[in-house]
Amino acid sequence: MPNHKTRLAVFCSGTGSNFKSLHEAIAKRPLDAEIVLCISNRSQCGAMEFARENGIAARHISEKQFATYAEFVEAMLAALGEYGVEAIALAGYMRKVPQAVVAAYPERMLNIHPALLPKFGGEGMYGIHVHTAVLASGEAESGATVHIVSEEYDKGRIVLQERVPVLPGDTPETLAGRVLECEHRLYPAALEKLLGEMKTAEIR
Ligand code: GAR
Repeated sequence: MPNHKTRLAVFCSGTGSNFKSLHEAIAKRPLDAEIVLCISNRSQCGAMEFARENGIAARHISEKQFATYAEFVEAMLAALGEYGVEAIALAGYMRKVPQAVVAAYPERMLNIHPALLPKFGGEGMYGIHVHTAVLASGEAESGATVHIVSEEYDKGRIVLQERVPVLPGDTPETLAGRVLECEHRLYPAALEKLLGEMKTAEIR
């Protein structure tokens, strides 16, 4: 399809600085994508505010709103269908994505993780907990990883990774800040790479 812009959804739970950096990169580079939907497990957060301010549909979808898990999954898939979403970027989404949603987007869903996977990934490793664990282990470096989301938590194919040093006197917060800066460069580059791979797959 000539000049087709990939319809992208972002999943967020908080500040949404990675969402903002993706949005900015799509406008500036330019990337052949448009963010058409923001899904969050929180009704009020920086990411949802940013979506609303920028004319992007903002959907609050949380397990707590539904009587059953199946209904929650159905609502998520319905929202993705409604907006014709073709690819997903998890940007600070602190919930496990339902298996059925992962299965609906094979090789089409990215996640950014604030460490050098496969180290410091898996259950309970999110946000500040990751940086606390890195410092406790005495590692000399950390970084960020963008990977494909697969059935196994934090284990999908790595698309891009960048290293940052751990500095003397670092606290989880100072390390988080340094890693986040790197994330804002890495995520747009990884999205660009995935869009390229998607295009190649279509041509074949
Ligand atoms: C980012 O550091 C991201 O890598 C991390 O949460 C932060 C969200 O910041 N994600 C995870 O830990 C997911 N396992 P943001 O809301 O400002 O983008």
